[in-house]
Amino acid sequence: MNRKNILLAAILFPAVMAYAQEYGGMWIPTELNEKEMKNLGMKISAKEIFDTTKPSIKDAVVQFNGGCTAEIISPQGLLLTNHHCGYAQIQKLSTLENDYLSDGFWAKNMTGELPNPGVTVDFIADIKEVTAQVLAGTQGLEGKAYQDVINKNMEAVKATFKLEEWQKMTVKPVYYGNKYYAYLIETYKDIRLVGAPPQSIGKFGSDTDNWVWPRHTGDFSMFRIYADKNNKPAEYSKDNIPYKPKHFLPISIKDKQENDFTFVFGFPGRTTEYLPAIAVEKIMTEIDPAMISVREVALKTLDEKMRSDAETRIKYASKYASVANYWKKWIGEVEGLKKSDAVGKKKKYEATLMAKNPALKSTIEELNILYAQQAPYALNKAYYSETVRNAETLTLANFYYNYLPAMESGKLDAKATETFKNRLAGIYKDYDPVLDAKVTAKLLALYANKTPVKFLPADFEQYKNESQNLVTIEKLSKNSVITGRGMINGATTYTDINKVFADPNALVQNLKNDPLMKLFAAMRENYMKTTDGPNNEIQEKIDVLQKKYMAQQMETDKERKFFPDANSTLRVSYGQIKGSSPRDAVHYNYQTHVAGIMEKYVPGDYEFDVPKKLIQLYNTKDYGIYKDKTGDVPVNFTATNHTTGGNSGSPALDAYGNLIGLNFDRQWEGTMSDINFDPRFSRNIMVDTKYILFIIDKFADAKWLINEMKIVK
Ligand code: ARG
Ligand code: GLU
Repeated sequence: MNRKNILLAAILFPAVMAYAQEYGGMWIPTELNEKEMKNLGMKISAKEIFDTTKPSIKDAVVQFNGGCTAEIISPQGLLLTNHHCGYAQIQKLSTLENDYLSDGFWAKNMTGELPNPGVTVDFIADIKEVTAQVLAGTQGLEGKAYQDVINKNMEAVKATFKLEEWQKMTVKPVYYGNKYYAYLIETYKDIRLVGAPPQSIGKFGSDTDNWVWPRHTGDFSMFRIYADKNNKPAEYSKDNIPYKPKHFLPISIKDKQENDFTFVFGFPGRTTEYLPAIAVEKIMTEIDPAMISVREVALKTLDEKMRSDAETRIKYASKYASVANYWKKWIGEVEGLKKSDAVGKKKKYEATLMAKNPALKSTIEELNILYAQQAPYALNKAYYSETVRNAETLTLANFYYNYLPAMESGKLDAKATETFKNRLAGIYKDYDPVLDAKVTAKLLALYANKTPVKFLPADFEQYKNESQNLVTIEKLSKNSVITGRGMINGATTYTDINKVFADPNALVQNLKNDPLMKLFAAMRENYMKTTDGPNNEIQEKIDVLQKKYMAQQMETDKERKFFPDANSTLRVSYGQIKGSSPRDAVHYNYQTHVAGIMEKYVPGDYEFDVPKKLIQLYNTKDYGIYKDKTGDVPVNFTATNHTTGGNSGSPALDAYGNLIGLNFDRQWEGTMSDINFDPRFSRNIMVDTKYILFIIDKFADAKWLINEMKIVK
């Protein structure tokens, strides 16, 4: 839809545009605005989405391993989530002979499904608003006294629920502490891998296509929940049986039309939609650009080596992807904030609010002052944290630094030592000290050049030069235990970490004298003193005011339908299937097809290779019931659902509650939706259920799985 049509639509359907799309929305499932959803085309009731007395759609939606979302798609507990959400499990189960990342994995039957110790799924059994109980007795209190009462009240709320052994209760604030909700959670622990396409489907387009539309990624994998014989959660046992869900999602393979109603049900992680203009301005002009610039240097340095050396590419693939993911997102976010004039819009909104309610004036003025005061500290925090995160040598030094006091005082018991050692071993496994010396040298130079002298340790000026840093870091790195190159007890942390830890005194003394550790300690101690302290002090004041500002926005703007910022709890977003016009003269269709995969195909490429079998299916047009009216199989589609990180793997449903897609990404031009949703540019990206079933059926020949599902034609 072009701009003129959007305006036209806004005039013709003011209610629909204003309610559903102007601000996006991630709604608490017990407080859905059913009326607006129905206006947009929903045919079921809010009760069918969330009910605690009868089976409802919520019984089919789970949080997958604490981060992503997944949904149940058969009466036997079959679970669908993203490939990138199951990635770690698929990787862990892979060996050189059975490389499930490269070749995919498809169990032949239930006996062939693979256990994943430690993986959990959480159901939300109930949601209760508990604001009155949590805020009781807090009037007139401030600071620590206030927080102490809140904490006590939250514990009291939890204690009123009688919990089964597999249940837990969490209480979470929303609207910056103006409201509180309690969640009853049930955790299942025997989760087995059922199927995953090869990376060349599940991760097709990799980092180049990440956050990008048009997209052609089959980003899905399948697991199954197992339960004990009473259908209750249990640790893994071969005697466990497939979980019988209260509800599972029927899967629609009907053709999609632009403007069809759709909703997404899942666990969005974090958004900040109600910040004052000044905060958004700081993110857009200072914080995001700082973080982007650090990651840019790190990525470029890694990429050079990864391109020329296959071993490095494998070692760094997953880390690179995770650094690149938010690097790219922030670039899109900054562009989108500018393009949608987020700051201008917020300023105007603040002026309207102040005109209606003069009490807001002082809140906004004070916030302006505080954000201005905080700016230099916040900027240094961004540079410092990103430097330590991306220079792995410093990440390691930071890790040792955190453990050093306990090690020195002998307080690190056997269990804690084991955890520490295991985490270190995990880092060393994929760490190349020579390559990272380059990254560290460059990032130290960036930090030294970008940071005002008052925030730097004495003599830090010497680190302003990259090539000189490289000589220094290379020299220090060579004999350092931290980098895994220096020896203790005749061993390094690479060759035998147990031997290194066998003599804790020697390790402590060594670390204390390590020049890399001294360099890092100076940086960190200086940062804590000059930046972290003052920054937090101001932040506490901002938090108090932000709570007040949130309450004032809600009191003053009576017409606006407010939804709380995402906080990793269960939410519903809704919208319509739609293409977009993100730039002058550019229009995107809402759907891609298999033919588009072949347009992107680069034989042998690590991002754009296509499996032979898929090429064959394309050549013979063996699409079965999965093609749409164009004769091709739809692969991905976009809609106006308001989503964020954590919504990966979330079901996209149609007007009747049938599964039509699997959420996995957002369109680059709209990623500022975490701060300022804009219906013109903000789109979520989903895998089409037709493509998922096509891959399971025709590509993997796993008909036994299709037979379990309920397919709506
Ligand atoms: N952008 C998506 C998300 O935020 C997908 C990330 C995984 N894929 C990747 N190429 N890094 O999680
Ligand atoms: N890929 C994201 C995730 O892992 C979802 C995309 C987004 O941020 O909206 O949750």
